[in-house]
Amino acid sequence: MTQTVPVPNGLPMERDAGPFAPPRALSRLREVRPVSPLRFPGGHEGWLVTGHEEVRRLLADTRFSSRQDLGVLHVPYEVPGMPVPTEPSPQIPGVFIAMDPPDHTRMRRRLTGAFTVRRMKELEESIVLVAERQLDAMARLTPPVDLVERFALPVPSLVICELLGVPYEDRATFQTNTAAFLVRDQAFDEKMAAYGAMTSYLAELVTRKRAEPGDDILSDLARQEDLTVEELTGCAFLLLLAGHETTVNMLALGTFALLEHPEQTAALRADPELLPGAVEELMRYLSVADIFYRYATEDIELGGETIGAGSTVVVSLLAANRDPRRFENPDTLDVRRAARGHLAFGHGVHQCLGQQLGRIEMRAGFAGLLRRFPDLSLAIPADEVPLRTDMNIYGVHELPVTWTRTAP
Ligand code: HEM
Repeated sequence: MTQTVPVPNGLPMERDAGPFAPPRALSRLREVRPVSPLRFPGGHEGWLVTGHEEVRRLLADTRFSSRQDLGVLHVPYEVPGMPVPTEPSPQIPGVFIAMDPPDHTRMRRRLTGAFTVRRMKELEESIVLVAERQLDAMARLTPPVDLVERFALPVPSLVICELLGVPYEDRATFQTNTAAFLVRDQAFDEKMAAYGAMTSYLAELVTRKRAEPGDDILSDLARQEDLTVEELTGCAFLLLLAGHETTVNMLALGTFALLEHPEQTAALRADPELLPGAVEELMRYLSVADIFYRYATEDIELGGETIGAGSTVVVSLLAANRDPRRFENPDTLDVRRAARGHLAFGHGVHQCLGQQLGRIEMRAGFAGLLRRFPDLSLAIPADEVPLRTDMNIYGVHELPVTWTRTAP
């Protein structure tokens, strides 16, 4: 098998199978060798995992360390100027997405109470209100408008700011700086400068909260005196970044996908009960947070291959979620499908902490949008929509939309 399957040189990223599908090379690899060697641009050898079962097993196995994965902050081997890691990266205090148990467990445990299904249910009404207000404002505009600017970006931003207790007026600071980490080819120095700007801002904020706590998640953390300001800052950074970049892109790319599948959208409009399932299906089908990194701490067998200790392992959640061995007709968007079991929120100890929040935001967002704008359509040809192929969280940079009527 090894001889017949070419080893990719760098991660295939080109969206050559359409705006919603994985790159063809990834789908091909998944069919022939779901755990496959990968050569990084610098020549370093690693592994690429694309099969659903293999990705699920890998994410459940903590021998694959997350200390190779600063998620969207550092992307090993792809960030120009970044040193090639040869051992687990040093931990950044508070940034528990890039920690392993028991450090990860200790930090994450402090937050699980704030993100339970019950707590999120209690917030649902206010999240619906945020979405509806944003839609009211959009309905007053003369189309075409950019759906990202008017809807997909402000809703998650407002919600996460409110939850964390970050002043929404300061959004210009954190939106620009968080975006800077996500640009794939951004030089290491520039990423670090943006990170520095973010952490100075957040360090000041959490210090103020420690002195005068309010009624929000960062204040609850700041009350815990055994946490250092660095830990509070790292945690705030992670929550702010993870809490809005992903949901923004799910709302925007999700709307694009719905507009490109009018029969699915008509089914949703006719039967809003389909919405929770449709959100899961959109998560599966789009998997905007696609690429994650792990580091093998010992030799590990996976999918019939031996991943050597010290290897960097890349997973594609999008490729896994389109695996025909797990989902029938995986490349078809079907809002009636039982899409549970998808990996778009990850799996194992790092599975998304904010998944209930993300689900509620998407349900509120899509429900409101479809109801208020009964004939919403793209204002430009689909192949001119600017895709975020240059970013580590996929989506669209802009989504110009238009309509002729609105509903209450
Ligand atoms: C982790 C996706 C929304 C906070 C993750 C992971 C994925 C993911 C795939 C696993 C990372 C890994 O294994 O290395 C998404 C998607 C979202 C979303 C697609 C949108 C729809 C949110 C929201 C929050 C959030 C709204 C709110 C704060 C986090 C945090 C982690 C995480 C803190 C790290 C968990 C840990 O390491 O234990 N997310 N997420 N996410 N997500 Fe989300």
